[in-house]
Amino acid sequence: MSSVLVLKTRDYAQQELSKAEGGHDWEHVRRVWQTSKSLLEQTPEADAEVVELAALLHDIADSKFHGGDEEIGPRTAEQWLKSQGFEAERREHVVQIVRHMGFKGGGVSSFSSLEMELVQDADRLDALGAIGIARCFSFGGYKGNPIYQPDFKPNPGMSKEEYKKSNSPSLNHFYEKLLLLKDCMNTVAGRKEAEHRDAFLRQFLDEFFREMGERPEGFE
Ligand code: ADP
Ligand code: NI
Repeated sequence: MSSVLVLKTRDYAQQELSKAEGGHDWEHVRRVWQTSKSLLEQTPEADAEVVELAALLHDIADSKFHGGDEEIGPRTAEQWLKSQGFEAERREHVVQIVRHMGFKGGGVSSFSSLEMELVQDADRLDALGAIGIARCFSFGGYKGNPIYQPDFKPNPGMSKEEYKKSNSPSLNHFYEKLLLLKDCMNTVAGRKEAEHRDAFLRQFLDEFFREMGERPEGFE
């Protein structure tokens, strides 16, 4: 059973994200919350309330949509939890998870905890499979990026700065991020589901290039 604070945070996140871009909206957060809860079932030793709060707050204010301010997310989460009287130590844990989530910098993070591992797996799973494909083209369209350009080759080794600035076609994003996620999973259950969703991405790419009639170098 989710705590009263978790349910209030659910309402707050739903309200805050009502106008967000399709790939980062309340439905994304709701899926990450649900997946986090199912990963929690395999991990009874984790602090469930911290996991649920971090899942609900992880995209509460994304720097991408706020002029690159990377502290806006953790700050907003902190203010919310403080306003609700959530105890300082566990509040700081949730804020650290919000701060260090994401793929930025090639997935290397200076903070880690069991609770963060669960939320991170849930967020990564939402970038894979059918949902991941839908989000990729939604976000690419939002940025005005092309779907695919045969001469614009994927660059899987981008730095954090290059990644943030990149306007590469959405199809390149599969090679630059999505197909790398399976090997970054933290939990056994997360990894198993990631393998299933990764296989679906590969199936999609096979069909895409079958329809194109050619599969250029760099898109293998
Ligand atoms: P994180 O939540 O780790 O910051 P992102 O916000 O970069 O990850 O990604 C959120 C969603 O948008 C994911 O589904 C991701 O695949 C998609 N996405 C991110 N960057 C791009 C891009 N350049 N082109 C297409 N989709 C993207
Ligand atoms: Ni997310």
